[in-house]
Amino acid sequence: LPRVLSGIQPTAGSFHLGNYLGALRQWVALQETAEAFYCVVDLHAITMDWDPEELRQNTLTAAAQLLALGVDPARSTLFVQSHVPEHVQLSWVMECLARFGEASRMTQFKDKSQREGTAGSSVGLFTYPVLQAADILVYQADEVPVGEDQRQHLELTRDLAIRFNGRFGETLTVPSARIPEGAAKVLDLQSPEKKMSKSLPPAGCVLLLDDPKVTAKKIRSAVTDTGREVVADPEGKPGVTNLLTIHSALSGRGIGELEEHFAGRGYGDLKKELAEVVADFVTPVRQRTQELLDDPAELQRTLGQGAARAREVAARTVADVYEKVGFLPLA
Ligand code: TYM
Repeated sequence: LPRVLSGIQPTAGSFHLGNYLGALRQWVALQETAEAFYCVVDLHAITMDWDPEELRQNTLTAAAQLLALGVDPARSTLFVQSHVPEHVQLSWVMECLARFGEASRMTQFKDKSQREGTAGSSVGLFTYPVLQAADILVYQADEVPVGEDQRQHLELTRDLAIRFNGRFGETLTVPSARIPEGAAKVLDLQSPEKKMSKSLPPAGCVLLLDDPKVTAKKIRSAVTDTGREVVADPEGKPGVTNLLTIHSALSGRGIGELEEHFAGRGYGDLKKELAEVVADFVTPVRQRTQELLDDPAELQRTLGQGAARAREVAARTVADVYEKVGFLPLA
């Protein structure tokens, strides 16, 4: 079986529709055909300002949502990144292989360092993609299901694996990104020239744990385009196209079919129906997430079992890498 790894940050409690359609939907589907490792990347969540109590709670909420969305701990290894110290152990070696120049080219760092400025950002924010590479390489993953915004980080991961293998001999699997065909980049409802993200104002970002009434309001207020026809046109009508893309991804109906369905009707009809489609999807997910959060001890047991399984695999890679780079074995 191919091996798959992916991770998600536990930021701000709830995942959003972009996370689900770009990445998590693939996570669930891949369990059927791959040996999957999925982690909540709490180490990545401290690269920018954070609150310790919120982080702890958000990590549990993230795990509960993953289970509610269909990640099955009997088939996949679900764990919390900080429970598996091998990620950091491999990351240091990768930091010493990665070049300052290549890390400087990462567009996510350029975006995320804008608030504090380069000089005021943490070193962790700068080396973030190297830790991400270690997350992937430590499991010898073949494929990494992610949204479009992670493409550059996956290229860096491949470069680091190839560099390591070239210098020390075949050791690390060179992974490929698995980016979905549709909805690889869900756009913000208020600023449809940007990707949906929690770092933008909340009105443009549909959270899975939002009350469906809030969601309906966000969708109703979504920025649409001039004109009246409900047709997909990514250049001319990015807002409407985004709504159609979300509808299509959740309802399973093709874009062409939806265009016919809405022929002669306006943007209001599209928004109303989309709000219903989203509500049908999130309602059971919200319920199940809440049930799982009602028993945090059980949730933590599941995560503990996942971490133990993950460590078995990760420890083998670290042992191999440490031997190859010349660290003295512990006698
Ligand atoms: P994160 O936590 O920002 O996002 C999790 C996943 O959601 C995808 N995504 C989107 N897809 C489509 N449209 C959007 N608007 C959208 N916003 C987010 C992301 O592409 C991602 O797949 N660096 C990663 C976390 C990470 C990771 C890893 C991923 C750490 N280690 C190892 C894969 C493998 C991140 O910040 O994702």
